[in-house]
Amino acid sequence: MTEMMAEELADYLRECSPEKLDVECYDIADAHLAPTPDEETVVVLGMPVYVGKIPLPAIKAMRDIYGGSALTLGLVSYSGRNYGNALYELKQFADERGFKMIGAGAMAISYRAVRGSARSGALVMDSDALRRYAKAASAKIMRLGGCDIEGLKVKPAPLEVKGRMPRHKISRLSPKAAAIAQSVLDVIALRRQESEWFL
Ligand SMILES: Cc1cc2nc3c(=O)[nH]c(=O)nc-3n(C[C@H](O)[C@H](O)[C@H](O)COP(=O)(O)O)c2cc1C
Repeated sequence: MTEMMAEELADYLRECSPEKLDVECYDIADAHLAPTPDEETVVVLGMPVYVGKIPLPAIKAMRDIYGGSALTLGLVSYSGRNYGNALYELKQFADERGFKMIGAGAMAISYRAVRGSARSGALVMDSDALRRYAKAASAKIMRLGGCDIEGLKVKPAPLEVKGRMPRHKISRLSPKAAAIAQSVLDVIALRRQESEWFL
């Protein structure tokens, strides 16, 4: 999802960029190997929602990376039940690590059923929503970068993402218990939420 968002963004930005635009993708666990972004870099920072939060390994990985004030788009994937405080949390960690987050999106995914199995199958992204988010985000980036004279550059208004910092108590659960909790949630949470984003 993160990769697709980056490719979409690059396609839009290429239309107005005299420079060659490259897309580089890193697993969050290897992101410390990436060069520190500069002001010409746009970062897409994505991770899944686990129990309304962002996963602990992703938080740990975030401690080893630095954003260098690069314009950043946050992205969480969730199964359409509830993304809880994950987006808020991602924004807080991104701010702490020097990323300038100008957009935050929660993208619903669904599972394509596998014939003959009651269990979930392949992930299906909400590609339409992702493309709309990428398009709107690229328009914002173009607005912000529209002027070469530093003093006249448009300053982004602070991005507002509602929520609070969750406590990661659930991480004490074993993966097996988490999987059971997940399947119970799947059964009881019938109402699905849509993808949404804030810019
Ligand atoms: C342990 C666990 C907890 C999850 N908790 C939530 C949740 O609270 N809300 C939600 O909408 N989706 C939840 N999901 C679904 C994931 O967000 C979804 O599967 C994920 O975005 C796709 O990434 P994955 O490849 O890690 O599954 C959970 C999945 C797992 C495995």
